[in-house]
Amino acid sequence: MRIGIATDHGGFSLKQELVTRLKAAGHEVVEFGAHSLDPADDYPDYVVPLGKAVASGQVERGLAVCGSGVGASVCVNKVLGVRAALICDHFSAQQGVEDDHINIMCMGGRTIGPSVAWDLVQAFLAAKFSDEPRHLRRLAKVAKLEAERS
Ligand code: RB5
Repeated sequence: MRIGIATDHGGFSLKQELVTRLKAAGHEVVEFGAHSLDPADDYPDYVVPLGKAVASGQVERGLAVCGSGVGASVCVNKVLGVRAALICDHFSAQQGVEDDHINIMCMGGRTIGPSVAWDLVQAFLAAKFSDEPRHLRRLAKVAKLEAERS
């Protein structure tokens, strides 16, 4: 799968670890930065380009990391077409795709270790949207909010 990934300094080391594991697993990885560790950088500079790439279909799914995953999540959800969530558990990594059709998973580089993060990434990437009418109905209501905003 073609996967985009972005982080600020707070998730830099986790991002590096995930890029290595994703490539080893055979995925194509598109990096949106940060490309070096800069303690003064800002997550919007990286997660917004990632969000746009996901929304346009340049990459199939995205991973957005910051220290807690909170800022990345708040920010990238402002991009039209993005459905992102901060994920900390396996169940939500899977169900977030199956029910809520998330296309970006956000994680905290300071809150989870690389093994847990990798488990979440695998669950997120393996999951598929269910296409069930109740979920389509709910997502149509979310999409309506977006359309009203644009
Ligand atoms: C940066 O220090 C930190 O605030 C950021 O990475 C993130 O945790 C924000 O939610």
